[in-house]
Amino acid sequence: MRAVVVPRRGPPEVMKLIEDHPDPVIRRPDEVLVRVRATSVNPIDTYVRGGVLPMPLRRDHILGGDACGTVEAVGAGVRRFAVGDRVFGLRDYIKGQGCYAELALFREDELAAAPAGLSDEELASIPLVGLTAYQALVDLAGLQAGERVLIHGGSGGVGSFAIQLARALGADVSATASPANAELCRELGAAEVLDYKTHEYRRLQGLDVVFDTIGAYYLESMPLLRRGGRYVSTTVMGNDERVSLVNMLRHGMRMIGSALRAPFGGTRAGAVRVKPNGAELEKIAELLANGAIRPLVAVTLPLAEAAAAHRQSESKRTRGKIVLAIP
Ligand SMILES: NC(=O)c1ccc[n+]([C@@H]2O[C@H](COP(=O)([O-])OP(=O)(O)OC[C@H]3O[C@@H](n4cnc5c(N)ncnc54)[C@H](OP(=O)(O)O)[C@@H]3O)[C@@H](O)[C@H]2O)c1
Repeated sequence: MRAVVVPRRGPPEVMKLIEDHPDPVIRRPDEVLVRVRATSVNPIDTYVRGGVLPMPLRRDHILGGDACGTVEAVGAGVRRFAVGDRVFGLRDYIKGQGCYAELALFREDELAAAPAGLSDEELASIPLVGLTAYQALVDLAGLQAGERVLIHGGSGGVGSFAIQLARALGADVSATASPANAELCRELGAAEVLDYKTHEYRRLQGLDVVFDTIGAYYLESMPLLRRGGRYVSTTVMGNDERVSLVNMLRHGMRMIGSALRAPFGGTRAGAVRVKPNGAELEKIAELLANGAIRPLVAVTLPLAEAAAAHRQSESKRTRGKIVLAIP
């Protein structure tokens, strides 16, 4: 199969398109081999390639957790899918047998049936960011209809999905973004969009939930929460250098796994660590099918242009998602 591999850590250009990479082989009864039509780029891919995330690479490490495609073959125990079905999913993306390739293996419970009416590129943009937002807002924060939520980073991959999910759950949504992206966030469902650079969101009070998709706004956000409010971040330590370990301990913040713990004046704080989940993806598929959520694809590039896609991701200025098409 054709695949983009990362032979060693380095800049985007280290990635190489291989024309004759060995095909993955089903070895377990619950595995599904998917012919990938599109995958998407997530910041984690650039952290693994660039070494920000110091983890061992396979010799032919293939990045990419997201895929939309068709089922090519199934293991003996697979019940929910058959050859030819159109599926999308998030696979365990750390181990290096990812989806920047024509074929990728998934566990049956990592996949969902692809809803009709959406392109492969649109569906490939969804699983990682959609599940991150779902696990942050639903599983961790327990966001309820009528509650007020602030979403930091509203125009990014996670943020643009989170605004729409929070609206679909019946919450009253505010978001932060740079002024150029304010209108986009309003179109996605934010009633109010605030500029993070001028810190104008600090005037919000009594919020039920803050979802910090950037991971940089812990100190500013905790005082905005009502008693019993919940802060969820996409980063365990936060990207904010002021959130030193000492600071975090002083504020009583203890993040253990993805559980929301540690009182902070009656509020709680925690971090999401997204996990593949086909059942939750089925719920997301319903929201896509009924139009409550629409994918936001900033750009689609061919697989061979993975390096350009990584440079775009590293700009930190992408509105929505970067997709790699594998026709
Ligand atoms: N823990 C997990 O399981 C998990 C899962 C998914 C993602 N993440 C992490 O979450 C972060 C966001 O992921 P993503 O896919 O949404 O990234 P992304 O799409 O690359 O985010 C780009 C957006 O970030 C906004 N932005 C950049 N710097 C900002 C700042 N200082 N303050 C506010 N907004 C800022 C930009 O908005 P403007 O152009 O309007 O400034 C842009 O729209 C990444 O660090 C990623 O690694 C973690």
